[in-house]
Amino acid sequence: MAHIASCELRKKLDRFGKVDLIYAPTPFARLENMTRELGGPEIYIKRDDLTGLAFGGNKSRKLQYIIHDIIDRKCDAVITWASLQSNWCLQTAAAARRYGIAPILLLFSPVGVPEEFDGNLLLDHILDADIHIQKGEEGRIVTMEEAEAHVEVLMRQAMEWGYTPYHAPIGGSFVGGSMDRPLGAIGYVEGFLELYDQAQRQGLSFTHVIHASGSGGTQAGLVVGAAAVDDSVHIIGISVSEGRKSYTALVKGICLDTMDALKLGFDLPDEKIDVRDDYLQAGYGVVTKEVCEILRKTAVLEGIYLDPVYTGKAMIALTDLIKKGELTRDHRAVFYHTGGTAALFPHRKTITSHLTD
Ligand SMILES: Cc1ncc(COP(=O)(O)O)c(C=O)c1O
Repeated sequence: MAHIASCELRKKLDRFGKVDLIYAPTPFARLENMTRELGGPEIYIKRDDLTGLAFGGNKSRKLQYIIHDIIDRKCDAVITWASLQSNWCLQTAAAARRYGIAPILLLFSPVGVPEEFDGNLLLDHILDADIHIQKGEEGRIVTMEEAEAHVEVLMRQAMEWGYTPYHAPIGGSFVGGSMDRPLGAIGYVEGFLELYDQAQRQGLSFTHVIHASGSGGTQAGLVVGAAAVDDSVHIIGISVSEGRKSYTALVKGICLDTMDALKLGFDLPDEKIDVRDDYLQAGYGVVTKEVCEILRKTAVLEGIYLDPVYTGKAMIALTDLIKKGELTRDHRAVFYHTGGTAALFPHRKTITSHLTD
C-alpha cells in the first residue's frame, strides 16, 4: 500500500535545500554469486559506499542537506564529534572542505586504541581538519551528554577564534545542536526513493532491505520512505552497538521527527521499525573471526569490500536470516552498503590474524 505517490514524496523532499556532494544515483546491482551461494532470495546491492565523497558512505548522502543548512545559516565552521575512527567525522570534514567550511572534530579515543594516523584519522589529517582528541576512561564509553558538553566548550572557543560555528549532532539525524530538523534521515528518505525508482525501472519489486544501523538516521529515513510509497517493503536494521528495545525507541523518535518535517500525515505502526540486536557479536567495533570471514566471503564472491564495524555485521545478518529461513526464494533482498571501508586498515592486524590461522 502507498500513502503517497513517489513523485509526490520527491516534491516534498525538493523543498529541502541540498548541495551537490555525491554521485547519485549510486549503483544498484544484482549479486549473482552471492545469490547462488546462499541459495535463498535474489540478492541485490545498493552501493552507497560509492557516493564519491572521500571514501564514500552513507554520511555523505545525509551531508548534502546538512551542508546546505550550514551555508543557509551563514556558518563558516562545523563542529561535530564521534569516536577516533569515525566515518561520520571524516565525511563531515570532507564535505565541509568542498564548501569552504572549516571542519573541527572532537574525537573520543577509547583506551587501548592506538592514536596513530591510520584509516579515517589519517584521512582527517590529510584534509587538515582541526582535530581534538579526548582520551576515554578505562571500561567506560562517553555519554551523549558529556560529549555535547565538550562540544559546547569547542563552540565557544571557535567563536573566539572568529568563526560562526555550526554544531552538527553525531550521525547527522538528531534534532539538536544547530540542527532543527532531522536532515540526515531526510537524506535516507531520498535514498529509499532512489533505490525504489532504480528497481522499478528494472521491473523489479524488492521485498526486504537489510542495512547496518548505528545512530538511527539511515534506518529512520529508509523506514519512512518505504512506509510512504510502498509499505510492503520490509526494512531490517542491524544494530551494531545497542540493544533492540532502546534502539527501536531511538529510531522511532527520528522517524516521527522526519515525518513531521516532511508533513507526512499517516501513522507509523511500531512493527515497521525492525531492529535486530542478534549480531552485536562482542560489541561495537570488536572485530571477531566471524566478521573477518564474511569480509573475505563477500570479497571472494563479488569483489566487494565490506567494513569490519558496520556492513560486515549486516552481511552476517543477511546470511543468517537466509539460513534460518526468514528470507527465502520467494523474496528479493537488497543489501544496502553504507560504506566505512577505510576502517579496514586500522584493524589490519586483527583481520590478518583471523584470516591466517
Ligand atoms: C559504514 C556505516 N554504516 C552504517 C552506519 C549506521 O548509520 P546510521 O548512523 O545512520 O544508523 C554508519 C554510522 O554510524 C557507518 O559509518
